[in-house]
Amino acid sequence: MKLWLPKSHAFMATPLAFRSIRRACFASSGLKWEGGVSMVQGASRGIGLEFVKQLLEKNDKGHVIATCRNPNGATGLVDLKNKFAERLNIMPLDLTIESTIEASAKFIREKYGSLNLLINASGILSIPNVLQPETTLSKVERSSLMLAYEVNAVGPILAIKHMWPLLKAGGGFGTERDVAVVANLSARVGSIGDNHLGGWHSYRSSKAALNQLTKTVSVEFARKRDPIICILLHPGTVDTDLSKPFQRNVPDGKLFTKEFSVQQLLSIINNAKSHDNGKFFAWDGQEIPW
Ligand SMILES: NC(=O)c1ccc[n+]([C@@H]2O[C@H](COP(=O)([O-])OP(=O)(O)OC[C@H]3O[C@@H](n4cnc5c(N)ncnc54)[C@H](OP(=O)(O)O)[C@@H]3O)[C@@H](O)[C@H]2O)c1
Repeated sequence: MKLWLPKSHAFMATPLAFRSIRRACFASSGLKWEGGVSMVQGASRGIGLEFVKQLLEKNDKGHVIATCRNPNGATGLVDLKNKFAERLNIMPLDLTIESTIEASAKFIREKYGSLNLLINASGILSIPNVLQPETTLSKVERSSLMLAYEVNAVGPILAIKHMWPLLKAGGGFGTERDVAVVANLSARVGSIGDNHLGGWHSYRSSKAALNQLTKTVSVEFARKRDPIICILLHPGTVDTDLSKPFQRNVPDGKLFTKEFSVQQLLSIINNAKSHDNGKFFAWDGQEIPW
């Protein structure tokens, strides 16, 4: 087997060099990390943080790269790091700064050589004094449309672009997945066919754009040799900071906990097969129309 050796370590018999050689073996031989390697993008809080927690708790061999804008301020992630120091890596990543996405890809390439699951969990709906979900066309602002589009659609696709060379089948709990999975957190309101209420122009259109971009990527992936699938997930209405200002009108029993929603979504991810590529699933496994 031909080993790739970083130049700076080539003649140094240090523990660092041995670790690099071992990692290179994994990367170049196609060997997999037992338990798999997952990345959760948008992991500081809400659904993303819960994904990190369940991935670590339910798979005692799995490794997770959790990314967020401000790792020092992400107290939930820091708590998990104290508990799962060996298997959790926290990296700074702001979707609006592409170099931070590239830096995370470089870190994963150097440390693991491959990635089995990418979850894009970030998203914005409202930001006080910056972004308000529109109730009418007269409230639509260029700046809101552009910001929602940048964070909800452009950023996740750039994350997929940079992680693509690393994506390999594997990971999962119990039975191993025979495909690499990219799961983008979308929203039912991003469905054009399901839009009967109107409103929320920025959020709806940015999620519709995410859906179309994901579908487009899925078509390209289907033509390649490495089995990679892209799916879109609607988590239901979940009790997080994002939904807080809008929970008043949620019918009884329809506001889910993060724990329940992520449990459902992980079941969809772990059972995903190649024929699921390019599909848009709700939390209960039902397909959502485009
Ligand atoms: N909660 C719901 O009811 C619901 C319903 C349908 C769909 N969803 C979707 O589910 C996903 C997760 O939502 P959530 O409820 O967990 O929301 P949340 O609690 O508000 O968390 C949003 C996450 O996105 C991150 N984020 C925002 N801007 C970012 C940027 N520029 N770069 C990187 N990360 C950024 C936030 O990081 P910071 O901490 O740095 O701000 C935070 O980690 C979103 O895509 C959302 O649209 C949620």
